[in-house]
Amino acid sequence: MKPALIVHGGAWDIPDEAVEACKSGCNAALAAGWSILSCGGSALDAIEAAIIVLEDNPVFDAGYGAHLNFDGRVECDAIVMNGATLRAGAAATLQRIKNPIQLARKILEHCPHMMLVAEGAERFAKAQGIQLCKLEDLVSEAEWAAWQKCKEDTHAAEHHRGHEQGTVGAVAIDANGSLFAATSTGGTCCKLPGRVGDSPLIGCGCYADAEAGGVSCTGYGEAIMKVVLAKTAVDLLRQRAICVDSPVASSGDTSTADLAAREAVHLFAKRTHATGGLILLDRAGNPGFAFNTPRMAYGYVAPDGAFITSV
Ligand code: GLY
Repeated sequence: MKPALIVHGGAWDIPDEAVEACKSGCNAALAAGWSILSCGGSALDAIEAAIIVLEDNPVFDAGYGAHLNFDGRVECDAIVMNGATLRAGAAATLQRIKNPIQLARKILEHCPHMMLVAEGAERFAKAQGIQLCKLEDLVSEAEWAAWQKCKEDTHAAEHHRGHEQGTVGAVAIDANGSLFAATSTGGTCCKLPGRVGDSPLIGCGCYADAEAGGVSCTGYGEAIMKVVLAKTAVDLLRQRAICVDSPVASSGDTSTADLAAREAVHLFAKRTHATGGLILLDRAGNPGFAFNTPRMAYGYVAPDGAFITSV
């Protein structure tokens, strides 16, 4: 089977000055993942490599440089899901893990449970050989400055102007047909400590079913959870038909993957009045994406091997 890869760096009102950084961040993530997939490597290795690149880039809200919580700490969530077994590895409210996706993978592969949080998750990480970092290692200067402004005033999007960030995600299929999806986030800025959004929740921020496809979501977590957005999108892929009365059904020769993405985001917007987006691969590796924000950072590998990135 031909491998496939799609990544995203969040759906937001990304300002013009951040567009190039978001595009080059997605491009670097594609390069990391594709260098594995194009040599016959596994989808799991590829999405882990792609997400690590995105987590390490402070342009995005994951890992280093993620939004700070009310107490001024980074608190991350991540998930990776195997489309063949429907098993996920997820971790939430991590404060001392540099690359949360690495812990999610360890949970997927070596833990009897599918999700661990907080101190228990960090204890499992240590037992699996993942070193804990210092709290301050994850805090970028820009996020610290934004958090201080929010503290002096009230939390406001303007305080983050110029370095808006989004959740990151990836979906990959390898030459053996294995399908994995993953999502990683720092959540919302100034969130209450202990808040968990959609991202690490199976079916909400991420879902993968090899019979239908894989999805990673971005946007306002409390709303995404209401419609179980990732599973909803996978169900639409499974149906392989979009409701005839859907406003997105008359979109010319749009692929089934794109129609499923658009239908899911349409349903999300209609039922929650919130904003967000998603990327997906159908089971054949066709990419799809949709968002109802002004912009979303995303990238995928075209059939000729070219990297397509956009914001
Ligand atoms: N979608 C990321 C979050 O709300 O946590």
